[in-house]
Amino acid sequence: MKIFVALVCLVVFHSSKCAKILGVFPMPSPSHYILGSSLMKGLAEQGHDVTVIAPFVEKNPPKKGSYRQIELTGFVETHEQRRKEMKFFEMEDINSFLVLPIFFYVIGNVTEATLSHPNVQELLQSDEKFDAVIIQEFMNEAHKGFATHFNAPMILLSPIGACAWVNPLVANPAPTSYVPDAMLSYSSQMTFTERLTNTVFHFYTHLLYHLFNFPKHARLYNEYFPNSLPFYDALYNVSLVLLNSHPSLNQPVPYVPNMVDIGGFHINPTKELPHDLQQFLDDSKEGVIYFSMGSNLKSAEFPSEKRDAFLNVFSKMKMKILWKWEEDVLPGQPKNVKLGKWLPQQEILAHPNVKLFITHGGLLSTTETIYHGVPVLAIPIAGDQKLNAHRIVNEGFGLSLGYKEISEQTLTEKLDELLNNPKYTKNAKKRSELFHDRLVGPMETAVYWVEYVIRHRGAPHLKVAGVDLPWYKYMLLDVGVFILIVLLLSLYIFCKISKKIFSLCSKSKIQKVKRS
Ligand SMILES: *[C@@H]1O[C@H](CO)[C@@H](O)[C@H](O)[C@H]1NC(C)=O
Ligand SMILES: *[C@@H]1O[C@H](CO)[C@@H](O)[C@H](O)[C@H]1NC(C)=O
Repeated sequence: MKIFVALVCLVVFHSSKCAKILGVFPMPSPSHYILGSSLMKGLAEQGHDVTVIAPFVEKNPPKKGSYRQIELTGFVETHEQRRKEMKFFEMEDINSFLVLPIFFYVIGNVTEATLSHPNVQELLQSDEKFDAVIIQEFMNEAHKGFATHFNAPMILLSPIGACAWVNPLVANPAPTSYVPDAMLSYSSQMTFTERLTNTVFHFYTHLLYHLFNFPKHARLYNEYFPNSLPFYDALYNVSLVLLNSHPSLNQPVPYVPNMVDIGGFHINPTKELPHDLQQFLDDSKEGVIYFSMGSNLKSAEFPSEKRDAFLNVFSKMKMKILWKWEEDVLPGQPKNVKLGKWLPQQEILAHPNVKLFITHGGLLSTTETIYHGVPVLAIPIAGDQKLNAHRIVNEGFGLSLGYKEISEQTLTEKLDELLNNPKYTKNAKKRSELFHDRLVGPMETAVYWVEYVIRHRGAPHLKVAGVDLPWYKYMLLDVGVFILIVLLLSLYIFCKISKKIFSLCSKSKIQKVKRS
């Protein structure tokens, strides 16, 4: 099989139709993996020869092209243990300023564990060649070494779109006056205090990056890629950033030419539902609420008073509820509630009887609900979920309920409003139309741009000159200081001259007075 693929590669190589592409997606969280593996599968489907470094194994690798997996064994277990220790449902209270150091710590560990992993070491010791390296951008800066090590153009995949972690690498402008940081739960219309916090947070992030994260990753980089380009040269040598975002999903923001929106690329054509689910959804003419808190937050870990609030509200409803519940039994399960440990989310959201989605508001869930035009009750907990929840409320296709506010009364109020006011469904359908109205689909866009970068050997002509400027020049501090000095100097000279003139005048006056 391998030889056959190599032959096909040779035959069609000159048209860049078949390239060798390495994907580095080390985050041990299913939603991150779905993004990385979807992209690599899409590239393999186009006949490319892909290699994927990830903590998970693909059960149904694509038939076309070649799809090789380098498994980061042990990552999932470590993550599961950490997930339990960190108690995700309590993350809501953590101050945004503290989240960054926690991320640095956890992801620094993931970054090093990837580099030292025996399966990865085996690849690095080999004399393999790649035409492009796609790396997930998630504070794992030392992994830029994969691109320099294989001397291949570097493509980044940003799971949350343009953000403070990726913008500086390609000098993308993000004015703090209307672009809120992903870690703060602001909308694009910020009050004075919010703009102040956003600006302070922006500088705080950059300071922390330059004081802690970059130096730490420079050490890792130098240790694992001792013969490659210097770390800071590699860091800013990004050919392309693929953004998991789209104006139908996120607020519109500026992009430099080597940033491309591919939000929604992970969504496949809907498959068939398992028989029992199909029957359940078909039979539920009164409508179904789909309830899932995603893969990191498990509904089964809700404290009992929150769980009881849901159960009491659900048991009084006529509608059916389909709940992603990760355990065998739900104490006090009402008759109209159906449970599933794993549920095919996209296929469920596609069903016409599904009227509402109760979600944590993660980006993948938000994208999928917009794709299918289903209104939302968001219960955001951490990360970018609050930002997404703000968007959901602003765009009018759903409501948001704080985790701490969950009670029988608040739930009843929100659900009553969402299910009886047709505006939410109407707005969800409108968002869905905007999502689908594109020149070409998001996966085709992604494949085109990856091939483009390979065809044009890193496409350096797309880079804006701002990448090469030191920060004080980028922020025009030198020009500002110069103007300030000129102004002060002029003022000084003006004062001196006026003093002189004044004293001359008064002297001549005195003399006049004396003479008279
Ligand atoms: C990462 O953390 C795990 C568990 O906390 C630990 O066992 C492991 O040694 C750490 N790895 C590195 C490379 O720091
Ligand atoms: C940047 O990357 C390209 C490959 O895309 C490589 O040819 C070039 O040498 C790199 N330049 C620097 C300064 O790192």
